[in-house]
Amino acid sequence: MASPNHSRISVVRGDITEQSVDAIVNAANTSLLGGGGVDGAIHRKGGKSILEECRRLRAGHYGKGLPVGNAVATTAGRLPARWVVHTVGPVHSATEDRSALLASCYGESLRVAHELGAESIAFPAISAGTYGWPIEDAARIAAWAVHSAQLRVPEIRMVLFDDTALRAFKAAF
Ligand code: AR6
Repeated sequence: MASPNHSRISVVRGDITEQSVDAIVNAANTSLLGGGGVDGAIHRKGGKSILEECRRLRAGHYGKGLPVGNAVATTAGRLPARWVVHTVGPVHSATEDRSALLASCYGESLRVAHELGAESIAFPAISAGTYGWPIEDAARIAAWAVHSAQLRVPEIRMVLFDDTALRAFKAAF
């Protein structure tokens, strides 16, 4: 399907680490030093060069860590992708609207990928696992953010790990 800014967008079931695209997005945390879920799988399968680059980022510009809603790239080690774009989603809150921060993860990841010259990018459902975002909300915000992003990548792939997430993202996109 074509978005208003003419990227090709697809919504598929799969494993983000197996995507043959220029850039995959990591649902990281502020430390940039790894964790579970998508983050754990990327570091485990990509090998230690990704972590070494993340440590250099922490020793340099990101001494206090990567802020929520921001994105930064490393190479992708042994993964099929060329780059990993690390972004930090907000933890879901029942009392505070953090949707702008979640939207920012998509917009900033697209900006970083665009600046790298990526032709294709794959996203997981940021914040919809450990960070507790209800999947329908996460999908709706992702669709809005991707469709309204100013800087685009020609091919955008949403990669969902299970049927429930796949259904929610298909409905939202
Ligand atoms: N490929 C695609 N999607 C996946 C994969 C995979 N290999 N593995 C899990 N998912 P999460 P978050 C789905 O927890 O909520 C980490 O510890 C999963 O089913 O990875 O942003 C970080 O270090 C869910 O729908 O990310 C942070 O501390 C979605 O990806 C924290 O978790 C996101 O789940 C980030 O939490």
